[in-house]
Amino acid sequence: MEFKQQVISALQPVLGDNVDEATLSKLIEVPKNSEMGDYAFPTFILAKSLHQAPQQIAADLVAKIDQAPFEKVVATGPYINFFLNKAAFSQVTLQEVLTQKQTYGDQDLGEGKSVPIDMSSPNIAKPISMGHLRSTVIGNSIAKILTKTNYQPVKINHLGDWGTQFGKLIVAYKKWGSEAEVKADPITNLLRYYVKFHKEDVAHPELDEEAREWFKKLEDGDQEATALWQWFRSESLKEFQKIYDMLGVEFDSFNGEAFYNDKMDEVVNLLAEKHLLVKSQGAEIVDLSKYNLNPALIRKSDGATLYMTRDLAAAIYRKRTYHFVKSLYVVGNEQSEHFKQLKAILKDMGYAWADDIIHIPFGLITENGKKLSTRQGRVILLEKVLNDAIDLAKQQIEAKNPTLANKDQVAKEVGVGAVIFHDLKNDRMDNFDFNLEEVVRFEGETGPYVQYTNARAQSILRKSGVDVPDTAETGLDDPAAWEILKLLNDYPNVIQRALAAYEPSVIAKYSLHLAKSFNKYYAHTRVLVDDGQLTAKLRLVKAVSTVLENALGLLGVASPKEM
Ligand code: ARG
Repeated sequence: MEFKQQVISALQPVLGDNVDEATLSKLIEVPKNSEMGDYAFPTFILAKSLHQAPQQIAADLVAKIDQAPFEKVVATGPYINFFLNKAAFSQVTLQEVLTQKQTYGDQDLGEGKSVPIDMSSPNIAKPISMGHLRSTVIGNSIAKILTKTNYQPVKINHLGDWGTQFGKLIVAYKKWGSEAEVKADPITNLLRYYVKFHKEDVAHPELDEEAREWFKKLEDGDQEATALWQWFRSESLKEFQKIYDMLGVEFDSFNGEAFYNDKMDEVVNLLAEKHLLVKSQGAEIVDLSKYNLNPALIRKSDGATLYMTRDLAAAIYRKRTYHFVKSLYVVGNEQSEHFKQLKAILKDMGYAWADDIIHIPFGLITENGKKLSTRQGRVILLEKVLNDAIDLAKQQIEAKNPTLANKDQVAKEVGVGAVIFHDLKNDRMDNFDFNLEEVVRFEGETGPYVQYTNARAQSILRKSGVDVPDTAETGLDDPAAWEILKLLNDYPNVIQRALAAYEPSVIAKYSLHLAKSFNKYYAHTRVLVDDGQLTAKLRLVKAVSTVLENALGLLGVASPKEM
């Protein structure tokens, strides 16, 4: 229940026509210091119309307000501070969480409307990078937040599976490769051939000509070229799939760049019809100078289409197929210009829905503050990162809880969860350093810390032996629990804020806050002592666990019951 509404209802009759409800709702603040109450109304806005000092206005209004629903209402300088009735607040909050369980926080904002999310989208025959990891976990969490708010996400992996590089790869494979090598370790070996091609073609420029010919063959549907391309693609996908399985991420579509091959002509024709194509040194471009953007390359002089052409076709295809209300692209910040261009071209083509194309950028993962670059060979291999994280988690579990039953499963949930959580806890645009030891720590602002807090709550509930009731006439009248209760009550708003900003970090930060607040409570309160409040305390513990599990779930992080 919205307790803010109580404050609005108390203020409205005494304010009369001076402030309308929407303005009032915006003006009401949550004081930083909880000693100043749960809500505060600043009276400055009334000073002009009432010709009075704000302090005087606050004092006068407090005398007129119906205080019955509150613990107290007091004037502090120019502010009116509202203290909620803790008994009522805790009764309502605990009951809502405990009866609604994992549906607590669900809200129908999306009315079932469709929202494609372009996410992960690695390139065939290359290792999946840390950037692709970020796109995968941010996209996955946004999809879960969308589902929670009754949108229908469509997770699309727009694979980089087309382009002139496949001509080079075919040449390199035929010259230096072997089937056995590719089968054994596709990504490493395909990448190796590709790198070798670039070394050799310096001295042997004829290789480039060969590569062009093979790509042409591929475009014309030549059997051998197509078979090789398909094979490289499926071997790479198998490797990617291992990582997606570890992360627990599933896709609704793997329609990558190649999927749009037969949709290129339509896009180019549409652009031509609208007189948007300009010839420039044999190539065809769209001039975007009126948007202050660089021209976008649509077709090269040899007729080949480009990344942008494919994205135009993909955007149109997604609108036709999914009838989206918003179309999201979770792609690194370095492609911001590209998505601005994409939107601008769609706009010039006359599509009003161009405004619904939303690029969700994110920053870089760095190593000691430096960018990781593929070219310098400083790629971090994701599978190895995840496996190392699992090993580290396992070591800590061995030390803390050597008799734990399914240790391997838990280590996997903790290790992988730690990597995901670390990625999601910072504002997505922030760059951050990746240091595995830091990421998997059980203390500090980490995923394992939140998971551990939840496991602690679960263990308290097990030890109590009490069957905790979902409903009760009373709540928990303990000032030490107040911060937790307020956080629990705020969860639906937290989800709204995360959705509005496409920012999973809002939920990650909230889960840290709730976990910290619960650990503080637990350190000071003897939860399992029967002091007449035992059931009430256990209901609080159960509610905390319910919301922690839910919040972690929205991030794509598991919640082991024991660890
Ligand atoms: N494959 C691209 C890359 O690795 C990302 C694709 C993003 N999605 C898109 N529709 N452009 O840089």
